[in-house]
Amino acid sequence: MAHVNVFDTTLRDGEQSAGVNLNRLEKVEIAKQLERLGVDIMEAGFPASSQADFDAVKEIADTVRGCSVTGLARANKRDIDIAWEALKGGAEPRLHIFIATSPIHMTHKLKKSPDEVVEKAVEMVAYAKEKFPHVQFSAEDALRSDQEFLVHIIEKVIDAGASVINLPDTVGFTTPDEIGRLFRYVRENVPNIDQAILSTHNHDDLGMAVSNSLAAIENGAGQIEGTINGIGERAGNAALEEIAVALEIRKDRFEYETGLVLKEIKRTSDLVSRLTGMQVPGNKAVVGRNAFAHESGIHQDGILKESTTYEIITPEMVGIDSNRMVLGKHSGRHAFKQKSEELGFFLNEERLKEAFDSFKALTGKKKEVTDDDLFAILTDTQTENQDQAKYELKAFQVQYGSINRPTATILLTRPDGEEVEKANTGEGSVEAIYNTLDDLIEADVHLQDYQLSSIGKGRDALAEVHVQLTVDGVKASGRGSAQDVLEASAHAFLNAVNRTLYRRTQEAYQKVQV
Ligand code: KIV
Ligand code: ZN
Repeated sequence: MAHVNVFDTTLRDGEQSAGVNLNRLEKVEIAKQLERLGVDIMEAGFPASSQADFDAVKEIADTVRGCSVTGLARANKRDIDIAWEALKGGAEPRLHIFIATSPIHMTHKLKKSPDEVVEKAVEMVAYAKEKFPHVQFSAEDALRSDQEFLVHIIEKVIDAGASVINLPDTVGFTTPDEIGRLFRYVRENVPNIDQAILSTHNHDDLGMAVSNSLAAIENGAGQIEGTINGIGERAGNAALEEIAVALEIRKDRFEYETGLVLKEIKRTSDLVSRLTGMQVPGNKAVVGRNAFAHESGIHQDGILKESTTYEIITPEMVGIDSNRMVLGKHSGRHAFKQKSEELGFFLNEERLKEAFDSFKALTGKKKEVTDDDLFAILTDTQTENQDQAKYELKAFQVQYGSINRPTATILLTRPDGEEVEKANTGEGSVEAIYNTLDDLIEADVHLQDYQLSSIGKGRDALAEVHVQLTVDGVKASGRGSAQDVLEASAHAFLNAVNRTLYRRTQEAYQKVQV
C-alpha cells in the first residue's frame, strides 16, 4: 500500500463557507482535533488576509506538533513575509503559494500574460524557498488551464524550489476521467516531476469532488486536499473522511492508504459541524445520522442475519459507537480530569474548574453524561473567550400557554457590568426571548437564520442552537447549548452579539498594527 498525504484545509477553504466565522479559540480546538485525526498537513488559514487570521495561524503553528502547519499566500512578497512570521514557529513550516493559470483567470482576474504569470510564480516560489523548508505551489483553476502551459510552469516552479505541486479543480468542473488524464499527462511530461509530490484539490460543484480525488490518486497524486464534512466555498470541497474510508473499504481496488485514525472521524465531524454551525445532512456518506440506519424490514432482517448483507462500513470503524456513558453525578474532579485528558483536553486549573462546574450542573439534570456531552462541555469551555467584556445571561423566565401570548422576562449583564431586566412578548417562546434580548442589547439586531439540533440521543440530550444575525448591519453567527431549548436559543443569540463586539475590538487592534 502506498501512503497518500492528507492535506486538510477545513480552517482555510472550509472556513470560506458562507456564514462560517470561526474565532481563534475555535480554530485552535479544531486544529487539535485534526492532529488527533492524524492529518499530515493542515492549512490553518490565510495569514495576510487579516490580523485575526494571522493570530490564529500563529497560535496553531506554535501549538500543533504532530503535523506540518501551512498557510496560504498569493504570489507576492508581502503575503509571503506575513505568512513566514505566522508559521516560522511550526514543527515543519510550509508555505502554500498560488497563482491562477487558466486563460479565464489570467485574462480577466490577473490581467497578465502567460509569460508574466510564469515569471511571477518562479520569482515568488524562489523567494519563499529562502525562508520555508517546504513550498507548495498551486496552479489555481488548473483543470481549465492549457495542459502544455501547465507542464511548462510546473517544471519552472519545481526548479525554483517547489516540492509539492497542487492542481486544483477550483470551480468543480472536471470529471474523474478528465482529471485522471491530466495527472497522467503531467507525470509523463514534466521532466523534473520526480522532485515533487502531486496534489489534488477538488470542489464539489457537480458533486464529483470525492470521485475526482480518487481518480487523481490512481493517476499519480501523492497528496489529497479537502475538508471535514466537505465544507468550503460554494458547494464545498472533497470530504476527506469519505476519501479515507473509500480507500480503506475498497483496499481491493485502490492500493493507497491515508494515515488517518478512522476512529476519530465522527468526533472530528461533530466538532467541525458544531463550531461552524454547518449541519451534516442525515444522508451524508460516512458521518450522516442515517448512514448506518437500516429502515426497511428486508434490510433489517438481512442485517440481523449477517451484518455485511447491507453494511459495508461498521459504525465502530469511524468512531460512532464511542459515545458511552462515562461519568455520573458521583464522579469527582480527579475522574473528570482523567477523562478530559483521555479525550485530549489538557485544561489549566481555572478552565478545569469551570468545565467541572458545568459537568456537575449537567449531572443534576441528565441521568447519563456521555463522551459526547463531555466533549461538548470541554470544547465550550476551551472556546469561551474569557478576556472579553460581553453580554451575559443571568436569569430568564418564559410564560407560555396555548391561549396566551408568550412572554419572556430576562435579566442580563451588559459589557460594562450593569445589570438590566426587561420583559417582552412574541408569537412563540423563542421570539419572545429574542424580542426581549433585542430591547436589552444596545445594537440593531436582526435574526436571519435559526437551527436547532441535539447533541447525542434521548429525551434528555443537550439542545444546540445555531443562529445567523445581523448586528448593526454586520453578519454574525452564534451557537449555544443547554439542556433546555429556550436557554440554548438565548445563549446562541448572545454568542453572536458578543462575537461582533469582539470583532470590533479586533478591528481597532488591526488599525493600531498597520
Ligand atoms: O480551489 C482553489 O483553487 C484553492 C486554491 C487557493 C488552492 O483553494
Ligand atoms: Zn479551493
